[in-house]
Amino acid sequence: NERSFIMVKPDGVQRGLTGEIIKRFNNRGYKLVACKLVQPSKEFMQKHYADLSSKPFFNGLVEYMSSSGPVCACVFEGKDVVKTGRKMLGETNPLASAPGTIRGDYCVDLGRNICHGSDAVESAKREIDLWFKPEEVITYSLIEAPMVYE
Ligand code: GTP
Ligand code: MG
Repeated sequence: NERSFIMVKPDGVQRGLTGEIIKRFNNRGYKLVACKLVQPSKEFMQKHYADLSSKPFFNGLVEYMSSSGPVCACVFEGKDVVKTGRKMLGETNPLASAPGTIRGDYCVDLGRNICHGSDAVESAKREIDLWFKPEEVITYSLIEAPMVYE
């Protein structure tokens, strides 16, 4: 079953939006299989965002993510969750995000876009392995699954 790494960034946690973001994925029918509050180090965030290391905003991004409070790291599981999760988050730039998306409803600034979602199934695997030990990702069946899936 497909999994995506969804993270509430420090601005999202500080603004009390953690529950709202988790709720939206749950309400859509996605299953929460891992969730923890983490204060990531600078080195750890450099690893997470390694593919952006040549960008001019990289240092600021890493600094921000590691020194503004905790993040809430989550894994959601379900049908097409990687692509659909990205749609639910909205565009990278919140001002380009449609109302009804998470960023389109709750933020306005590119560097304070409150959430992260894996951009492909392969990066989801890499990110889940980076953030979680295998035993922290729980395999269980949702009692409502037959009401979500035909
Ligand atoms: P994530 O879900 O956080 O990975 O966002 P994304 O996949 O939509 O965008 P990307 O991976 O390209 O960039 C990661 C994060 O870097 C974004 O969410 C922004 O917070 C930040 N970022 C991206 N582009 C810019 C930029 O041009 N300027 C600044 N200041 N920040 C940027
Ligand atoms: Mg990204």
